[in-house]
Amino acid sequence: MLDPKHIRTLHKNRTGNEPALFLAPGRVNIIGEHTDYAEGFVLPAAIEFATYTAISPRADGKITIYSENFNEEKVFDAATLPSKGSGHWSDYPLGVVAIFAGEGHTIPGFALTIAGDVPLGSGLSSSASVEIATALALSSLLGIDYTRPKLARLCQRAENEFVGANCGIMDQFISANAEANHALLLDCRDLSFRYAPIPDGVALIIANTMVRHSVAGGEYTSRRAEVEEACAVIARHRSGVRFLRDATLDDLAQWGSEMSPNALKRGRHVIGENLRTVAAADALTNGNLAELGRLMAEAHKSYSEDFEASCTEADTMVALANKIPGLIGARLTGGGFGGCTVNLVEEAQAENFAAQLKEHYKNTTGITPEIHRTKAAGGAHRID
Ligand code: GLA
Repeated sequence: MLDPKHIRTLHKNRTGNEPALFLAPGRVNIIGEHTDYAEGFVLPAAIEFATYTAISPRADGKITIYSENFNEEKVFDAATLPSKGSGHWSDYPLGVVAIFAGEGHTIPGFALTIAGDVPLGSGLSSSASVEIATALALSSLLGIDYTRPKLARLCQRAENEFVGANCGIMDQFISANAEANHALLLDCRDLSFRYAPIPDGVALIIANTMVRHSVAGGEYTSRRAEVEEACAVIARHRSGVRFLRDATLDDLAQWGSEMSPNALKRGRHVIGENLRTVAAADALTNGNLAELGRLMAEAHKSYSEDFEASCTEADTMVALANKIPGLIGARLTGGGFGGCTVNLVEEAQAENFAAQLKEHYKNTTGITPEIHRTKAAGGAHRID
């Protein structure tokens, strides 16, 4: 966790002004992958790594955005905001500003400082945390008070429409709405949700394969297209089916032969994953950790074999975790193709588990992984 004093000092040194401060956490997804844009279910939790923003007004109509991580400042004109990103890190905060402008808000000049410790490109939603931390800062500057689900939706739109990454709502939603020591079961159709407590005695361990992941990359988009293809075939036969959320395994059995082999596999993953995710939230709520672990194992297998969104390193990391005492459940978390695994581990064994996983992964792959132990954190907020 960064010390908020650090970002305050950073901002004051840059601008000479006292800022308002905000933070928004990254997330780990316990289960429910590539289901959000199919209007299905996800079960993420926020983590103790976060993006921090500091904001103060400027009188000259300029927007200056400084990122400590990239050690770079960008300057824009509040009156002539671009409507599309340029492939630069500043697209994420600027996209939020542009979406707010599109909602009819007059954007004044301001200075924004961004710092954070969410590992970048690791599938822990550094992008969503930047968006939500920016949205909170901007809301306070403008004196507006969107509900948290609305804020998440606006930030998702910034990523879809400005950045050009076709993500769902999960990452922005959990960053804005998380509760400490809980996972959140979100119905991505109507954004209704309930919290599922993570029992005392269960540690969350995030293991970074060190293989970089990107939602803006082509694989995420092509998987999404295949999911939509599977849905379109079923919808030809059943008019009530608008998203794979509405489809069943029986539908796949009946009409799967009309799909491309890939669409059939992607469809099987998403439909099964929705069932697993709701069951996992129930297992967590009832303290049935064995069942939760079983569902996570099934989910990883499906993500790897049917969705083909894993990679050798992530499969290795999960296989190794399964042999270490104390594991409850492990799977690749997030958009796929690299990034981190999420491991639920018996607290008493957590330290030994982390040490062994690190050693075995290094011995097997030659890569030194970063292993983080975290608690399920609270959602984005202002820091006083
Ligand atoms: C990324 C996206 C999310 C979601 C996951 C996969 O994190 O940003 O919207 O689709 O991948 O579950």
